Amino acid sequence: MKALVLSGGKGTRLRPITYTSAKQLVPVANRPVLFRVLDAITEAGITDIGIVVGDTAEEVMKAVGDGSAWNAKVTYIRQEAPLGLAHAVKISQDYLGDDRFVMFLGDNVIQGGIKNLVTGFQQHNWNAQIVLKEVENPSQFGVAELKNGRVVRLVEKPKEPPSNLALVGIYMFDHHIFEAVNAIKPSWRGELEITDAIQYLIEHGYEVYPYFHKGWWIDTGKMEDLLEANRLLLDEITPCIEGEVRGNSYIAGRVVIEQGAEIVDSTIRGPVAIGRNTHIENAYVGPYTSIYHSCFIKNCEIEHCIIMEEVHIEDVPFRLEESLIGRYVEIKAASAKPKAYRMMLGDHSKVGLVSNG
Ligand code: DAU
Repeated sequence: MKALVLSGGKGTRLRPITYTSAKQLVPVANRPVLFRVLDAITEAGITDIGIVVGDTAEEVMKAVGDGSAWNAKVTYIRQEAPLGLAHAVKISQDYLGDDRFVMFLGDNVIQGGIKNLVTGFQQHNWNAQIVLKEVENPSQFGVAELKNGRVVRLVEKPKEPPSNLALVGIYMFDHHIFEAVNAIKPSWRGELEITDAIQYLIEHGYEVYPYFHKGWWIDTGKMEDLLEANRLLLDEITPCIEGEVRGNSYIAGRVVIEQGAEIVDSTIRGPVAIGRNTHIENAYVGPYTSIYHSCFIKNCEIEHCIIMEEVHIEDVPFRLEESLIGRYVEIKAASAKPKAYRMMLGDHSKVGLVSNG
């Protein structure tokens, strides 16, 4: 069995982070979402993995390499534009051949992996299997309608959803999916939709079965979703302190401090993850915060945040909360007169200042 991971796309809802970096590479609990996808696939015993890449191809290729970090063989498949999930399958036909495969969207994070799903599919002759999860907001996803245990209809982001069963971004297929992706036409939004391709399978007598995912699932399209995934993953971390804790420091709860990190005169209240070579001094780092590699954090308070690599935060008078801070960002108080905010913000940046009121 092979795997197809989708790591192209636009990532418009995560701007400005996605101007300079792939959304699939944002770290949650200090491990990029895409790495977690590859973890789940290889844990299920699949080592032949195709990754569909788009505009951010170079960055994804640099991060994942040839897959040897997962003992896997990775093949990159270039998609010239994000023309839809079914389009990504179409251009991967040569790579996939007649093999059965799991398709995993590179921005999805799930609890508990995909071992049971993959094993179950291997034991049946079904043509496709889709992963479903009950959600409160089905209109934001593909939605499935079931009858007698079979999938009878799929609709992409419907205004009036026929059920509360959302399509999780993980699908099992056999080679009949190519007949479907070659037959369907682009949707109103100009994309070849995987939901339409699966609907084609259903209408042409192929067997499509559901798989009900038990644990949590997050599609990390927006900042709030990333913070939620970060929170859920940090709740499950195993404490491990490999870095140095010095001076008047206090570490409480589940905390990971990676090698080369230094905590000086600071309070860290878990669940928290601190990446390698990060320096934290005279600071408070509160629950549900992940600080990635090589950051410098001094004289400030941070809670419920994702801080990406090489960020410098110093002398900030108010607590930083519920924030996603991109790579190489600097946030510092300046003593120079006149007393004013001085910023260099990229397009689509969002800043919440503390008001006087
Ligand atoms: O996350 C689950 C949802 O994913 C499903 O419920 C929907 O049925 C499905 O259409 C999909 O919806 P999204 O709007 O979330 O898809 P998005 O455009 O975010 O793309 C998902 C991943 O696939 C993302 O990692 C980018 C990648 N992608 C996307 C497109 C459209 C590609 O590699 N190529 C593409 O052409």
